[in-house]
Amino acid sequence: MEERLKIRALTLKDLPAIIEIDKKVLGKSRPDYWKRKIEVSEFRPPLASLVAEIEGKVIGFILGDVSGWEFGVPDNIGMIETVGVDPKYQRRGIARLLAEELIRSFRLNGVQKISTLVEWDDWDLLQFFHALGFERGQRINLELDLTEEKK
Ligand SMILES: CC(C)(COP(=O)(O)OP(=O)(O)OC[C@H]1O[C@@H](n2cnc3c(N)ncnc32)[C@H](O)[C@@H]1OP(=O)(O)O)[C@@H](O)C(=O)NCCC(=O)NCCS
Repeated sequence: MEERLKIRALTLKDLPAIIEIDKKVLGKSRPDYWKRKIEVSEFRPPLASLVAEIEGKVIGFILGDVSGWEFGVPDNIGMIETVGVDPKYQRRGIARLLAEELIRSFRLNGVQKISTLVEWDDWDLLQFFHALGFERGQRINLELDLTEEKK
């Protein structure tokens, strides 16, 4: 892996870089979404949100959390909420390093299981999590489409 690469805790100052990476990955800009998401990361467990940087430039991030008792999910479950790497730097093991560091930090915080949600047809993310050893979990996703709801 690149020697110049550094993994460190995410701070509010990383917001513009994360918005930029997200824009490159998804093709649209979501500054308000990221501002809200990153502001709350201050209240998350230490080292649950990380960035990867090369020579001071942030090129990837991962946001994690450890659950309270929401939706019957016990405390010892860690969650990976989102992960993203600048397309220019993909397939160099950067997301893997970010995830491994997060998993290490989860372990140190007593987490016993890690959960994440992926769109069923998001092949990049599915293959990435598969490569890390993730398997299909026990919960299923239920939805009610209000635009289709019968009166
Ligand atoms: C999925 C993603 C995070 C992977 O990042 P990455 O740094 O390229 O991943 P890595 O290089 O660490 O990959 C580790 C392993 O995962 C698998 N993998 C990752 N991306 C893959 C892809 N596109 N196709 C197939 N396998 C893939 C491979 O097994 C890879 O190991 P290998 O390169 O030795 O074969 C990146 O493609 C991304 O950011 N995608 C967009 C994600 C997204 O929509 N996030 C939400 C908004 S930002």
